[in-house]
Amino acid sequence: MAPRSRSGRDATTGCVDFSVEVRAIATPSTIRLRNPGARGSAGLPPPGPPVTFPVSDALRTRDGASALIRTIASTDLPFPLLVRGKVRDVYDLGNALLMVATDRVSAFDVVLPDPVPRKGEVLTLLSAWWFARTADVVPNHLLSVDPDHISAEYPTLAPYRDEWARRSMLVRKLAPFPVECVVRGYLSGSAWKEYRESGTLAGEPLPQGLRESDRLDPPVFSPARKAAEGHDENIPFDRMRETLGAETADQLREASLALYARGRDTAAAAGIILADTKFEFGQGADGSIRVMDEVLTPDSSRFWPADQYQPGRGQPSLDKQPLRDWLEGLVAEGRWNKQPPAPRLPQVVVDETSRRYQDAFRRLTGRALDDFPLHAPERA
Ligand SMILES: Nc1ncnc2c1ncn2[C@@H]1O[C@H](COP(=O)(O)OP(=O)(O)OP(=O)(O)O)[C@@H](O)[C@H]1O
Ligand SMILES: [Mg+2]
Repeated sequence: MAPRSRSGRDATTGCVDFSVEVRAIATPSTIRLRNPGARGSAGLPPPGPPVTFPVSDALRTRDGASALIRTIASTDLPFPLLVRGKVRDVYDLGNALLMVATDRVSAFDVVLPDPVPRKGEVLTLLSAWWFARTADVVPNHLLSVDPDHISAEYPTLAPYRDEWARRSMLVRKLAPFPVECVVRGYLSGSAWKEYRESGTLAGEPLPQGLRESDRLDPPVFSPARKAAEGHDENIPFDRMRETLGAETADQLREASLALYARGRDTAAAAGIILADTKFEFGQGADGSIRVMDEVLTPDSSRFWPADQYQPGRGQPSLDKQPLRDWLEGLVAEGRWNKQPPAPRLPQVVVDETSRRYQDAFRRLTGRALDDFPLHAPERA
């Protein structure tokens, strides 16, 4: 096989190769590089053995012969890498950021070694869809998801288009508030754990006798401090007010509850329960507060199929259930302890997870991923 260039092109012909080579990354639970001068995989542990994904129809869009969607675990674009998060590679373009959602997937806060085809696209385009549907509630950071527009603004990116197109958002550069704004409409996850142990949520007492997955009315704002490693730490709202100042904390709380209400109603119409979700906010140079990162995606939210809802137990996840079930099976057999490094995933689990993410996109937006109007998300 001809040697490949760093961007995956065949170095001798310059053509996009029809098998996609992705290096498996054995990443620790959180990778947070704040190294503006760094490029590419700087700071990552050494890559594992190469994994080759056959290019199937599922990886192609319908709208053009060359529209190959590569499965990507990591990117290497010619701009300073600002952050490599669990899922996103964020590049500093000067006066804006390019947030590339890779196909990395995490479970139990551990990044898995195998990427999930089309997951990055789902996260980016679903966020764009929600941003268009919530801009009247809270302003956001999105400038564009249109690859033609992004290439025109930043011609340096044009030759690497197959690495970032459809999975990237051009966004305003904001100063992030160091708090995750979680809204819970149902009692689940770490909230259920806290309630079971102390009868409280985010330090505030809740009514007695609630069961796992019970609906919380009204929804509860339960902030968390972003941890550099591993799980975020739930904090009482008063602590958030001390950290950010009462006025800002109140503003973020109101914005989060309003976004959750819009998300819950929209998802309900699609037969989906938005159990809880997490928002991040940042401040622009002009002082404006905007919601940033991703919004109301399967990665930032718990989505449950409404027709299977049954309080008193955990609920099946609309998207990651096959992945969770398989990993829990390994844990039960004593073959994994939910700590990095995570085990390799069987192809059937990867494929089913990809299908579930695409399905969630279709159920929420009413559109197939390939039919999304990149130039005008508000028309989707
Ligand atoms: N407009 C923005 N300006 C500045 N930073 C941003 C902006 N939008 C998002 N970010 C930051 O970019 C990073 C995105 O990476 P990613 O979503 O993978 O993060 P993560 O925090 O590791 O994972 P998770 O979201 O699962 O907690 C985050 O650190 C987020 O705070
Ligand atoms: Mg994030």
